[in-house]
Amino acid sequence: MLGEGEVTMEEIFKNYHQVSSWPPIRKPDGIHKKKKHDTAELVKLNYQKLNQELVNSLIGRKSAKAIKKGELSKDELGTFLKWSVGIGSSNRRTYPSAGGLYTNQVFIVANEVDGITEGVYSYLPDEHALQHEKGAVQIKDALVQSDIDCNFCLIIAANIGNAASHYGERSYRFCLLEAGHMVQNIMLVANALHHAVAPIGGFKDSVVNEQLLPKHKSLSAFYLVPVGFSCKWNEAME
Ligand SMILES: Cc1cc2nc3c(=O)[nH]c(=O)nc-3n(C[C@H](O)[C@H](O)[C@H](O)COP(=O)(O)O)c2cc1C
Repeated sequence: MLGEGEVTMEEIFKNYHQVSSWPPIRKPDGIHKKKKHDTAELVKLNYQKLNQELVNSLIGRKSAKAIKKGELSKDELGTFLKWSVGIGSSNRRTYPSAGGLYTNQVFIVANEVDGITEGVYSYLPDEHALQHEKGAVQIKDALVQSDIDCNFCLIIAANIGNAASHYGERSYRFCLLEAGHMVQNIMLVANALHHAVAPIGGFKDSVVNEQLLPKHKSLSAFYLVPVGFSCKWNEAME
């Protein structure tokens, strides 16, 4: 039982999520300067080669600053979701989750995907299927960047209340950590499929909550990932 004036953990996390929605961006001088080290004190390391396809995925991962639409089919979207945030072999997802709870949910804003009507969908990993949520929306309204025009955009969101009921004070961290795992997969799979992606942590929360996911008042969105094609013709070869 909560005493007078006390708030639930869910409220604390939701308040934090709301007040942290748009912090002023500061770049303190010197923060990005490379530190100079005394090489005599360093333990130099070697490394072995890995499977070349894995290496190519890792070194090719990048955040596109400009994205444009191109030809993208329903099957490509399915391939993308299956390997990035879906269920792989042995009935396990392709990313880890604290306690196997998979608190984070994936939504897709389909802008231009052949075979899929424009709109917002939730992705159901068990069925490897999309569930229609809402008709066409303007994902651009939720973005701050003007150079992003994607075929589809993933939204990663969690029910913080559900998470808190399992992991208490630690749950907010777990949602963010899980989102990081998901987005790294998304970026690696995008690279394997020669798509351009951008992991967007700085977006307009109110647009996502009110216009894109209005039926999901209990969800808090953490990450947007627009997916499309590179604006640089030779970027896939870089
Ligand atoms: C948590 C997080 C939030 C980010 N948010 C944004 C964002 O809002 N807008 C953006 O253009 N890039 C965003 N990025 C991408 C970074 O700018 C990018 O990772 C960084 O410049 C390094 O480039 P690389 O990913 O190509 O190596 C974000 C990255 C992370 C990890």
